Amino acid sequence: MRVVSGIQPTGSLHLGNYLGAIRNWVRMQDSVEGECVFFLADLHSLSTHEDRDTRRANVREMAAALIAAGIDPKRSVLFNQARVPAHAELCWLLMGTARMGWLNRMTQFKDKAGKNREGSSVALFAYPVLQAADVLLYNATHVPVGDDQKQHLELARDIATKFNGDFGVDLFTLPEAYIPPAAARIMSLRDGTAKMSKSDPSDMSRINLTDDADLIAQKVRKAKTDQDVLPSEPAGLADRPEARNLVTIFAALSDVKSDAVLAEFGGSQFGPFKARLIEQLVATLSPIRERLLDLRDDATIDAILESGGARARVLAQPTLDAAYDATGL
Ligand code: ADP
Ligand code: NA
Repeated sequence: MRVVSGIQPTGSLHLGNYLGAIRNWVRMQDSVEGECVFFLADLHSLSTHEDRDTRRANVREMAAALIAAGIDPKRSVLFNQARVPAHAELCWLLMGTARMGWLNRMTQFKDKAGKNREGSSVALFAYPVLQAADVLLYNATHVPVGDDQKQHLELARDIATKFNGDFGVDLFTLPEAYIPPAAARIMSLRDGTAKMSKSDPSDMSRINLTDDADLIAQKVRKAKTDQDVLPSEPAGLADRPEARNLVTIFAALSDVKSDAVLAEFGGSQFGPFKARLIEQLVATLSPIRERLLDLRDDATIDAILESGGARARVLAQPTLDAAYDATGL
C-alpha cells in the first residue's frame, strides 16, 4: 500500500482543513505500513495568479502547519512539488495521452472557471493531468480524496490505462480512492450551509489553526444557532444546519458519532453545549497552534522540505525514466 496525497499551499489553515484532510493524513501516517508521500502542491498554485512572496510564504506556512498537526517528516516523505521536477516532466509526458474531451468533462474546472473559461489559465484546465502525474509517479495504490476529487482520480486511472495500452507497457499502477472513515465535512459558523472555507470573507465564519483560546471562544459563542434545545437523536437535526454543524464538530473532535454527542447533550441549551465545545476545540487546537507559531519562522522548515524533496526525487526517478523510455524519448 502506497498512500500519496497533496494539498495546495494556500496560506492559513482552518478547522475544516484539519478535520477533513490533515488529521486523516496523520492517521494514515500512523496506520499504513511503509512511508506515506505528502506534498505541497505548489505547481498547482500556478493555476491562479499569486506574487512570488505570497507563494513562498504559503509553502512555508503550510509545511509548518502540517508538521504542527502531526506529520512527521522522518516517517513520511514531505516536500513541495516544485523541488521534484519529475512532477512537471511526467505531467508533460501524459499530455499526449490525456484527451481534451476527458478534461472538458471535469466539473471542478467548470466550477472554478465559471463564466471566465476563455480567461482561465491552461494550468487550471490541465490541473487533473498534473494530479495524475503526482500520484502515478509514486505508484500510489491509495489516494485519499474528498467527493470533489473523485472525478480527477478516475481521470488519472483513465490516463494510466491508456498510456499503458498505447505504449504496450505495464508501467502505471491504477490508484484507488481512499475515503477515510471519519472525514468530517465542516460548515461555516455563519449559517451551517456553506462549507467552512478560507475564501469566506468573514473571519468569524471559520476557526483558524492560528486562533488563540479567546478567539475560538468568541467565534463559537457568536456562531449562529436557533432557539431550541438540542435534540436527543440525529434525525432531530435534519432542518437545523447550524446545530448540526456544531454537533458534527464536537463529534469529530471527540472521535465519536453524532448519536453519542446527542445522547449526552440532548435536551441541553446551546450555552452549556458551546462551553464544552470550546473546551474541546482549545484542547485539540492549542498544542497545534503553539507548535505552528514556533515552527513557521524556523529555518528548519526549509531544511525539512529540502531533504523531503531529495527523498521524493529518488522515489520518482525510476517511474519517470520508464515513462521516457516507453515513449521513445
Ligand atoms: P478551502 O475551501 O478553505 O479553500 P481547500 O479547498 O484548499 O480549502 O481544501 C484543502 C483540503 O481541506 C481538501 O482536502 C479539502 O477537502 C479539505 N477541506 C476544505 N474545507 C473543508 C471543510 N469545510 N470540511 C472538510 N474538509 C475540508
Ligand atoms: Na477544495
